[in-house]
Amino acid sequence: MDNFFDLIARRESCRNYDPQKRVETEKLIKCIEAARIAPSACNSQPWSFVVVNSPEVSPKVAKCVQGMGMNRFTDACPSFIVVIEEKANMTAKLGGAFKDQQFAQIDIGIATAHICLAAVEQGLSACIMGWLEEKKLKELLNIPKSKRIRLVLSVGYAANESLREKKRKKLDEIMRIVD
Ligand SMILES: Cc1cc2nc3c(=O)[nH]c(=O)nc-3n(C[C@H](O)[C@H](O)[C@H](O)COP(=O)(O)O)c2cc1C
Repeated sequence: MDNFFDLIARRESCRNYDPQKRVETEKLIKCIEAARIAPSACNSQPWSFVVVNSPEVSPKVAKCVQGMGMNRFTDACPSFIVVIEEKANMTAKLGGAFKDQQFAQIDIGIATAHICLAAVEQGLSACIMGWLEEKKLKELLNIPKSKRIRLVLSVGYAANESLREKKRKKLDEIMRIVD
């Protein structure tokens, strides 16, 4: 992979993992390093991550994202990253309140994108999941009740290297140039 555009083209939500291939913990740590250097409003860094790379615990995390029959593909996934919203710093909080923006959630989205791209760069595949059972996950991973879990990422080696066609709105539907 030579450049950024190849990297973003190779990233897709992986729902077909090779259950035999465990993920090297160092690669997951590199994903978190990529999140760590992500930008955030007022450099608030309102996030923390629980990395689960355990043959015993990973299947339990999978069950926490399968409510109502969703995300069944996670049964084959060896690793997960749970994304927790942490308290923003005072400047970001005040700025967000003043401007009526949810900066912390925006920040978390950016950090999560960094994780996905770092995964692809290392030959891994990921899927962001917002469909999660927060209470069950908190109990499983000892996350305080007071915190919010915003996302869970499944991370593993894809069972199949082929990529899907990207179905997206056309450029002229999403862009207006003022020049
Ligand atoms: C905030 C967020 C929540 C998502 N939740 C889920 C989910 O619970 N399950 C799932 O299979 N995909 C989920 N996705 C993945 C999207 O369906 C996917 O990104 C979109 O369809 C575009 O496809 P691509 O990622 O393969 O390019 C989520 C993506 C985002 C950004």
